[in-house]
Amino acid sequence: MSAGDPKHPLLFQPMTLRGLTARNRIMASPMCQYMSEDGMPTDWHFVHLGRLAFGGTGLVFYEETAVEERGRKTYGCAGLWRDDQIPAFRRVADLIRSVGATPAIQLGHSGGRAASHGAMRDWTPLTDADTAHGLPPWKPVSASAISVGPGRQTCHPLTPREIQDVVTHWADAARRCDRAGFDVLEIHGAHGYLIHQFLSPVTNKRDDAYGGDRNGRMRLALEIAEAVRAAWPAHKPLFFRVSSVDGRGGIWDIDDTVALAAALKARDIDAIDCSSGGVSGNSAMPIVPRVPGYHIPFVRRVKKEVGIATIAVGLITEPQHAEDILRSGEADIIAMARELMYHADWPAHAARALGVADPFDLLPPAYAFRLRRREDISKLAINQPGAALSSDATKLIETT
Ligand SMILES: Cc1cc2nc3c(=O)[nH]c(=O)nc-3n(C[C@H](O)[C@H](O)[C@H](O)COP(=O)(O)O)c2cc1C
Repeated sequence: MSAGDPKHPLLFQPMTLRGLTARNRIMASPMCQYMSEDGMPTDWHFVHLGRLAFGGTGLVFYEETAVEERGRKTYGCAGLWRDDQIPAFRRVADLIRSVGATPAIQLGHSGGRAASHGAMRDWTPLTDADTAHGLPPWKPVSASAISVGPGRQTCHPLTPREIQDVVTHWADAARRCDRAGFDVLEIHGAHGYLIHQFLSPVTNKRDDAYGGDRNGRMRLALEIAEAVRAAWPAHKPLFFRVSSVDGRGGIWDIDDTVALAAALKARDIDAIDCSSGGVSGNSAMPIVPRVPGYHIPFVRRVKKEVGIATIAVGLITEPQHAEDILRSGEADIIAMARELMYHADWPAHAARALGVADPFDLLPPAYAFRLRRREDISKLAINQPGAALSSDATKLIETT
């Protein structure tokens, strides 16, 4: 691993993609909160995303946002399926931008994973018992008439005509994201949701043009990529999140992902966000071991064989590790989720750890002003008995 250049860590170099320049290469990865109302952000989102933006992150991603109402996992999931939802999202995008971060959003469709409880109830399916609480289950859709887990409904297999409607929903939602003021968009093609359900042979049993061989199974992903790219402004970057490999016992593997990434590159996708898992089966495929930087082998292959920008995610928590990943050339962006929940101002602390001259510059000006002043005061000999302070120093202390 390289030692890095302490004066100019890559992590804190501005990053330009198409017409966008982000202040650094740290991305707050999408994080579902299950706190939306009618798909729209609540006060929770202002605090949750505001603290990430205040902490110095370059790209702040709004959580997976459903392109149509039935594509939500839960009643608390985000969604942008109507024009009248746009203003609520715009307020969040404006807040993120106001402190120097780039507002970004992930669009998704949960497919067969719809009609569930949230993370803290282990995404268990809604049942008739939930109807009494005003949360009736709805019919999930997927590639095939599968059930994605015990106790789950059998999905409605989308007809080719219905697939075209889904593609249109993606494009319409992308236009709404633009109107809401987001500058980067990510298509969620991972984690066992609708696109991934079409990609993996474990969940796609179709024998029409959207199933069968790899090209058939990739068709929906590519049609969505094309439709969203056409709907999303040409000057704004578009990312695609993949499950580089299925989960335990799966079939879709990194060779498939490399082929998909090449096809996405040909459709003007700007970066591949390499995650994993979400579909499991009976094969010998192991689960990806959860070691720091656990998706790096996947970004390495996508980068080397496809030559597209890549996003590394998965237990990246140490500043030098993040810097080393960028310096290796294997990834262009470092995405983080759990560490930022724990430590939202990680970027400012990482900047200091990597030797950036003014780490406070990443914080809002009102914070930075006071913190720089505190540092100036700490250099004064004020704690020594009888210390003689200049009038300037006295003023500095007394006005803090
Ligand atoms: C609370 C939470 C919510 C998440 N929601 C999403 C999501 O909306 N979309 C997505 O693609 N991944 C989601 N993820 C996965 C993260 O984006 C990230 O890929 C994963 O947590 C690994 O990164 P980490 O080790 O830095 O946490 C979520 C993770 C967490 C912890």
